[in-house]
Amino acid sequence: MRTHYCGELNQQHIDLQISVCGWVNRRRDHGGVIFVDLRDKKGTLQVVFDPDDAAMFADAETLRNEFVLRVEGKLRIRPEGTNNPEMATGEVELLAQRLEILNASETPPFQLDEEDVHDDNRLRYRYIDLRRPEMQHRMQLRARVTHFLRSWLETNEFLDIETPMLTRATPEGARDYLVPSRTHAGSFFALPQSPQLFKQLLMMSGMDRYYQIVRCFRDEDLRADRQPEFTQLDIETSFMGEDDIMNLMESMMRGLFADVMEVEVEGPFLRMSHQEAMERYGSDKPDLRIDLELKTISDVLKDVEFKVFSGPANDPQGRVAALRVPGGNELTRKEIDDYTDYVGRYGARGLAYIKCNDVSQGREGLQSPILKFLPDEAIEAILQRTGAATGDLIFFGADKASVVNESLGALRLKVGQDRGLVEPGWRFLWVVDFPMFEHDEREDRWNALHHPFTAPATDDPDALAADPGGMLSRAYDMVLNGTELGGGSVRIHNMEMQQRVFELLGIGEQEAEEKFGFLLTALKYGCPPHGGIAFGLDRMVMLMAGANSIRDVMAFPKTQTAACLLTQAPAPVSERQLRELSIRLRKPQAES
Ligand code: AMO
Ligand code: AMP
Repeated sequence: MRTHYCGELNQQHIDLQISVCGWVNRRRDHGGVIFVDLRDKKGTLQVVFDPDDAAMFADAETLRNEFVLRVEGKLRIRPEGTNNPEMATGEVELLAQRLEILNASETPPFQLDEEDVHDDNRLRYRYIDLRRPEMQHRMQLRARVTHFLRSWLETNEFLDIETPMLTRATPEGARDYLVPSRTHAGSFFALPQSPQLFKQLLMMSGMDRYYQIVRCFRDEDLRADRQPEFTQLDIETSFMGEDDIMNLMESMMRGLFADVMEVEVEGPFLRMSHQEAMERYGSDKPDLRIDLELKTISDVLKDVEFKVFSGPANDPQGRVAALRVPGGNELTRKEIDDYTDYVGRYGARGLAYIKCNDVSQGREGLQSPILKFLPDEAIEAILQRTGAATGDLIFFGADKASVVNESLGALRLKVGQDRGLVEPGWRFLWVVDFPMFEHDEREDRWNALHHPFTAPATDDPDALAADPGGMLSRAYDMVLNGTELGGGSVRIHNMEMQQRVFELLGIGEQEAEEKFGFLLTALKYGCPPHGGIAFGLDRMVMLMAGANSIRDVMAFPKTQTAACLLTQAPAPVSERQLRELSIRLRKPQAES
């Protein structure tokens, strides 16, 4: 049907007899000549219909946006002065000799270059939205990324192995998607939240190095970087420790960026402990492009009369921290109020501040409603620790450390963005030395920070049990520009240790046997030391594409409420299907 793609034609193809296929991007009638911009996956080409061929010209007059055409003709140089430097094919045009209308199109629900199209509309007519050059480029980028990763991994002896989709629940911390079994009435499969246990079993199977580009399913609250169904690049290796794994993964990422983005990323990646990340950035995925840091000032506020500060300063779980905003003195009352509302969303009960009109004058040069509560020494220490200069503003958070970290961590990003303090570039780092467990205050129990199969930093189960709260794990996260790209760990390969971790997590012997008996048994039959990682492929491509949401790099994503607007899934099913699955829906209560 075609000899070339529209977007690839240029001066080299002048005078060639050419056929192209594509969609009408735009039709313009110009004094007896019709111009059509024809679009395909490689770009757009100007096609000219001359009135000399009356029949063809009449057909060309019927063309509308999104009609599908095949055009044959001769490529020629555009006349002097009609070049379009905005178009890659802007120096040439196709003089049509034959037009075939392969299909008509109704007026599309939105124009491809329209800006204010409602997201719902884009998703409902996703096949039209995907025709946009930007979306075409994103899908092409995604395919280049997976192509590179596969070939890199295969060169490095990783084996692509598939794992089941119909399986048992894996504890990655989200709610499961369940699939009822017809043949086992009342029983359910869970769609995998990740192939975690299977990839460990593959190491026990002697596969040595595994990878898979695999769909994972998590029924959780959705955000810009979360979808109920997403893709992991999932990796596991035997006989490697965390340093080996991190080094290997680092070279893969640097290779990827060199190949696909033509960017030389500096190595080795920075490694930062979880504690340091929380302390300096209030986040376990710090965005290092923003040169702002939280400073702890609890120690200098223990005795001040201002209870908002002295309370958390004296609480072992509390934290008082300061964030310097360079040039923030100019912030208006309204802007400060808006930031106060913003941190409120993260649980902060206020946002105290000090404006630095002139730091050389000490207290006299400062302006703040809380100044009167603070003695000179405290003020001195705050200025010194934050490095505040004349013209700056200092924000304060005082609360449980978790609230301060979350709220000031988020504020740090927001202020950085609002004030243009985000440096361009690719700032990778590894976050390491995570705590093994976090304490769930409400239920008074330990939760695994990564997952229950992550090895603690000790080989001694008793040492772990003696101080679960103080124990670090052998987990690591790869972070890029403030996004957690991937996370992994060295795994437990010793049955006793695995049992002890289950115990500490409040998973009793019987429950452990029921849910993970197969794993515990497998650990008894020669399990090699092993570890791995999983990257969020969608997040990786999102960052590389400069997109704001992983939806923009998925062909058919779901909405915020986990629905597919294109196919209208999820949808009710027939009584008969439900009966086969031994499911009875409760009758909706009659309205009273
Ligand atoms: P984890 O749960 O950290 O680890 O997931 C690994 C990576 O997957 C991405 N990710 C998501 N992307 C889009 N939407 C989601 N809902 C979503 N949830 C997670 C993130 C994350 O870093 N089995 C372990 C890995 C291992 O230990 O090897 C796991 O799944 O980028
Ligand atoms: P108040 O005494 O409640 O009027 O608060 C005085 C200042 O402290 C105001 O600017 C509040 O926004 C701020 N503030 C109150 N609670 C906190 C808190 N937990 N952390 C930081 N600032 C706070």
